[in-house]
Amino acid sequence: MTKTINWPIIKTNMSYPIEPYKVKVLNSINILNRTERIKALQKADYNLFKISSEKVTIDLLTDSGTSALSQEQWSQMMLGDESYASAKSWERLEASVKNFTGKKEIIPVHQGRAAEKIIAEILLQKNDVALSNGFFDTTRANLEHRGAICLDIPTEKILNPSQSRLFKGDINIKKLQRLISKYRKQIKFILMTLTNNTYGGQPASLKNVSLAGNIAKKNGLLFVIDACRIVENAYFIWRDEQKKRGNIKNIVRKLFSLADLAFMSTKKDGLANSGGFIATNDHALATQLRELVVLYEGFITYGGMTGREMESIARGLEEVVDLAYLNHRLGQIIYFHNELAKIGIPLINPPGGHAVYVDAAKFFPHIPKNNFPGQALVTALYQEGGIRSVEIGSLMLAGSAKNELVRLAIPRRTYVQSHLDYIVEIFKKITANKKQYKGFKIIWQASSLRHFTCKLKPL
Ligand SMILES: Cc1ncc(COP(=O)(O)O)c(C=O)c1O
Repeated sequence: MTKTINWPIIKTNMSYPIEPYKVKVLNSINILNRTERIKALQKADYNLFKISSEKVTIDLLTDSGTSALSQEQWSQMMLGDESYASAKSWERLEASVKNFTGKKEIIPVHQGRAAEKIIAEILLQKNDVALSNGFFDTTRANLEHRGAICLDIPTEKILNPSQSRLFKGDINIKKLQRLISKYRKQIKFILMTLTNNTYGGQPASLKNVSLAGNIAKKNGLLFVIDACRIVENAYFIWRDEQKKRGNIKNIVRKLFSLADLAFMSTKKDGLANSGGFIATNDHALATQLRELVVLYEGFITYGGMTGREMESIARGLEEVVDLAYLNHRLGQIIYFHNELAKIGIPLINPPGGHAVYVDAAKFFPHIPKNNFPGQALVTALYQEGGIRSVEIGSLMLAGSAKNELVRLAIPRRTYVQSHLDYIVEIFKKITANKKQYKGFKIIWQASSLRHFTCKLKPL
C-alpha cells in the first residue's frame, strides 16, 4: 500500500517552525537590480558557477560546507591546537566522533572525497563491483578511477518522482540479491548513501539498511555507509517510527552499528565548513587506511584539517543531533516544499532532507531537453531574484540524465523564513511569464564535467 506523507511540523500552530536561533553576527547580502543581474549572467556565459558569490542574493547551490557556525563552535575554535602530532583538538575530535558513531577506530580526512579515494585504493581492484542505493558523483568517480564497476540499485519507489512515498532512498533488495549472485566473484562491498543525495536526498529506512547489512554479512561482503547526512536520515526514521526508538542519537548509533566501515564529509551533518572522517571497528583495516592518510592527507591526527577545523566539527557533531535544530531544519524544508507546491510548481515528492527539487521539464514543457529546461529555470531564478541553484539534468549529466531537475539546496542554519518566502515570490513571477524563457545551446564545453565551465547562449 502506498504510504503518503503528512509530516507533523513542530509543536506550534504555525506552519513555519520558529528559528531556534537569533542573529548575532551579520553577513550582508547584496541585492543587485535586474539590469545588473542580466549583465552578470551575460558575463558568466549563463553559467551560474561563474558568477561571483557577491552578486548572489540567496545561494542555494549546495548545502555542503555552507552551514552557519554556532557561537559555541566559534569559541571552541579559539582553542584550536595547531600542533602537528597528537594535538588536543584531535583528541577532542576523536572523542566526539567516537561518541557520535560508536566506532573504535577514527581516521581523519580533509573532506568526503579524500575518504572515498583512500577506501577505493584499499578495497578495490580493476573490474571489482560495488553496489549502492546511489553512489554520489565523487564516490562513483573515485571508485571508477580504480577501474571498479559501480551499480546503482535504488528502489522502484524512485521511478515516480511526483508520488510521495516514504523512504525513497532505499536500496532495491531483490536486485541486490540478484546482482550478488551474478557478480559473486567481483563484488567487494555494498554501500548505503544516507540520505541518498543522487536520488533527491531521500532517506532510507532502518529496516532497509539492516536488510542490506545482513545480506552483505551473509555473503561475506563489507557493508559501508556514506554518512554525510546520516542525522537527517535518522530524523526521518524517528518521525516514521513514532519516536519509539528513543532519541535521534540512538538511531544514528544504530545505523553506524550496521556498518563495517563508514565515512563522512563533515561539511554536511558535521555542521562544519570542511573536514571528514572514516570510522570502523576493524583494527587491521584501520591500519591500512591510516597508511594512506599519511601519504595523501597529512599525519593521522589531523588528516589535512587544522586544529580549528577539528574543533568546529567536534562541536558540530554534538549540535546536529539536537531536536530543536532538527525540527527546524527539516520543518524549514517541508515548509518551503509545501509553499512551492501550493503555487503549482512541479516538485519531486516528498521533500528530501537537504533540498527541494523542481521538475523543470514539467515547469517549462515548451523547452525541449536538448535546450536544457533546467538551466532555463536556473538562469530565470537568478535573473528575476538573484537566486543561485543548480541544474541536475541534461546539461550536467548529458545523455544519462533521467530527469530535468533543478535542486534548491538549503544551507544549514543560514536562511530564515523571509528568504524562502522571497524565493516563492520569484517563482510566482517566473510562472506568470513562462513563455519568455526559451532555453539554451552550448557554445563551448570541456571534455568532462562540462556543467562547471561550459558557455551557453540563450535561444
Ligand atoms: C552523499 C555525498 N557523498 C560524498 C560527498 C563528497 O564530500 P566532499 O564534498 O566533502 O568531498 C558528498 C558531497 O556533496 C555527498 O553529498
